[in-house]
Amino acid sequence: MNLYINGSNQEKNCYRILKDIMDKDDKLISLSRKNINYCLGCNACKNDLSEYCIIEDDMEEIYKEILKTDKIIIASPIYMNHITGLLKNVIDRFNPFSWHSDLLSGKTIYLITVGQMSEEENEEIARNIKEYFESIGEFMGFETVFLRNFTSGDIETIDNVTKMYDNYEEIIKELKEKI
Ligand SMILES: Cc1cc2nc3c(=O)[nH]c(=O)nc-3n(C[C@H](O)[C@H](O)[C@H](O)COP(=O)(O)O)c2cc1C
Repeated sequence: MNLYINGSNQEKNCYRILKDIMDKDDKLISLSRKNINYCLGCNACKNDLSEYCIIEDDMEEIYKEILKTDKIIIASPIYMNHITGLLKNVIDRFNPFSWHSDLLSGKTIYLITVGQMSEEENEEIARNIKEYFESIGEFMGFETVFLRNFTSGDIETIDNVTKMYDNYEEIIKELKEKI
């Protein structure tokens, strides 16, 4: 079973792409449906390995799902040249894993980004996002594989990424093979 995380504030393109890649027995979590508070910065997680975090919210479910699987596939829209705040918030809540990096060791995070601008225009932004995950993977113990940056196109197509690609099904097949 793989874990799929939709980092969008909506269930649109990232959601659609993940749905198309995943298998029946995989788990998909849309962050927009979850109640996830900010990291308090208290570092209580440094000492308590059993509880991970003192905050009682939907992160408890996400910690459990992450620990169950070796492959985590994350799709994020590009918001203001970065991942969404919603997803960044979840990454901040990975703080327990920075104290207990053995929990993520051997795991791989696969990344997909979707932006309104063209793939070429967002090339550097996508690379920055990849490098951001690689840098935190270094101390949290996970590997990063950047799968693809998609464009959802202009206002006519922005809600349906599939319209931007004649070979959308082929792309999805290739991504499935990489995971
Ligand atoms: C607040 C906000 C900021 C955005 N910033 C960017 C951006 O910097 N670059 C870009 O290419 N698209 C940007 N977009 C467009 C989204 O990346 C695009 O609509 C994407 O398809 C959203 O993913 P979703 O359909 O899965 O929600 C932004 C959208 C919003 C709402």
